[in-house]
Amino acid sequence: MTLFASFLLLGVISCSLASNNRIVTRSSIALIPSVSPTLPVVPSATAQALSKKHSKHVNDFFKLYGWLEPGKSVPDSDLPKAIRKIQKVLKEPVTGVFSDKMMDMLDKPRCGTEQPYNETDAKNPSDIHKRYVLWGSKCAAFAQWMRFMPLNIVPANTNANADINILFTSFGRDDTRYAFTSMVSDGVSLAAGNINVTFNDDYQWNDDRLFNFTAIHEIGHAFGMSHSAVEAAVMFAYYEGNIRPIHPDDKMGIHSVYGWKNPKWSRIDSNTAANMIPVTSISNSVSANDGLYQIRSSGQILRYASGTWTSVDNNKDTAQIAGAGGYLYQRHSDGSTYRWSGSNSNWQYIGTASDNVIDIVAASDQVYSRRKDGWVARWSGTGTSWLSIEQPSAQTSKQIAITDSKTLWNLLTTGDLVRSIWPYNSGEWLIVDQNAANMAIAAGGDEFYKLQSDGTVVWLNTKENYWQTIESAGSVAIHAQGDYLYSRHRDGSVWRYTGTSGVWEMLDDRKDVVSVVGDRGGEVWEMLTNGDIYRLVS
Ligand SMILES: *[C@@H]1O[C@H](CO)[C@@H](O)[C@H](O)[C@H]1NC(C)=O
Ligand SMILES: *[C@@H]1O[C@H](CO)[C@@H](O)[C@H](O)[C@H]1NC(C)=O
Ligand SMILES: *[C@@H]1O[C@H](CO)[C@@H](O)[C@H](O)[C@H]1NC(C)=O
Repeated sequence: MTLFASFLLLGVISCSLASNNRIVTRSSIALIPSVSPTLPVVPSATAQALSKKHSKHVNDFFKLYGWLEPGKSVPDSDLPKAIRKIQKVLKEPVTGVFSDKMMDMLDKPRCGTEQPYNETDAKNPSDIHKRYVLWGSKCAAFAQWMRFMPLNIVPANTNANADINILFTSFGRDDTRYAFTSMVSDGVSLAAGNINVTFNDDYQWNDDRLFNFTAIHEIGHAFGMSHSAVEAAVMFAYYEGNIRPIHPDDKMGIHSVYGWKNPKWSRIDSNTAANMIPVTSISNSVSANDGLYQIRSSGQILRYASGTWTSVDNNKDTAQIAGAGGYLYQRHSDGSTYRWSGSNSNWQYIGTASDNVIDIVAASDQVYSRRKDGWVARWSGTGTSWLSIEQPSAQTSKQIAITDSKTLWNLLTTGDLVRSIWPYNSGEWLIVDQNAANMAIAAGGDEFYKLQSDGTVVWLNTKENYWQTIESAGSVAIHAQGDYLYSRHRDGSVWRYTGTSGVWEMLDDRKDVVSVVGDRGGEVWEMLTNGDIYRLVS
């Protein structure tokens, strides 16, 4: 369906002065469907032609995820079905035919730990809770996991009977496994001294980061966690060349076995904050101005970093703060805008006063403003000049959100959702959704989410171009940052998305949480109705 409508394109505007050369351009509507598109039917001849290698990959994958009864294998006639199941896990188009990406991925080194078959899990792979088999708590581990669990692990004395043994042995030629973990277990508890983490000594292990990553994964097994079906999680069985940081899914896994550190939340301020925002760099690397910032009702701005608050500015005219890409911005009540580059007095004047400016949004390495006349503008990077962004003329922006690759999403007051690809002036707005129930939007990294008035949270699968509901009810606010997505419920509870549709981990069940923000490293802060700010400890 393609429809054309007239839209306006404005040229460069300086300050709040709009140029007169309005160029009529066109914009299209390409609504994103809310179900997976119908995929081509695969002729069975193709399925039969699948090589032995495909079959081995499928069987390996099924074993790694505990989907196969011991001693059994997937019959050739079931391969397309099995491939579809794997494709669902990998969020690949579900064709039933080996794709290049799948071939590539399943060829990659993997963890050799096979999950014990569990019929309940196998029948209901979507119920991720079941994969966290509790094998007991008598374990040893590395500091990475200790950040998230109430357990202290120490190296054993020489000759002592350690709970976990670390071994290096040669796995032999052609064995692509990096390591595996083996244990004596009745499925409920672990036998101390009988958990072995064995690394493949045929690898040189001269890449510390890779060894570190492999060890964190294997220690996760030694703690009783099975393989995750979330591709971005540490506990995903394959290694595709990217060192994966600990993921919300991994955190939920370890919490579901051992619980949380106590106390779970620690209060870091009790001075009636009016609002708080995180500032983080675009990538996972740290930037000098990273931290949590709060604005008080007095207009004072404070920064929280390395455990202390420092004042960044104290001006009664400050109405709003925003931050991204290592920069902090403030908007005054007269609409003027400033950028902070690190020292108290060092505020750069970047936007002149105008009552047209109602909101500033920092994202990626840019800062945008939302205006009363409905337009969105972007700071040009020099002086006080802002560039307006082509937009459906008759409609007013309600909220904007921007992904790391700078795709700009604009939720209009009608519920229409429009999208513009960087660099906005060369393209048109595309109307991708028309739903009066659209209430709020959020972008984290390159992922995009929307919240609907019925409390559902919907994720956009950009690969296959469809909407998928990932939370079915209860949400009243969402916040995304990097790989993390948080949802606050009507009852005040706060949840973190694990990457599997419908599976969220509850972070807090206090009734008086008014706001939750996080940074790209996974730090989480919440603000209560009384203005207290708390930090999540584990
Ligand atoms: C399989 O998993 C279910 C749910 O987690 C559990 O109740 C059951 O005991 C498990 N079965 C075996 C044989 O471990
Ligand atoms: C762990 O390794 C030791 C020494 O090689 C071996 O005797 C033991 O059987 C192994 N245990 C498991 C559960 O693999
Ligand atoms: C090991 O991995 C953790 C978590 O990703 C990271 O914080 C730490 O810096 C890594 N250490 C090394 C030596 O790479």
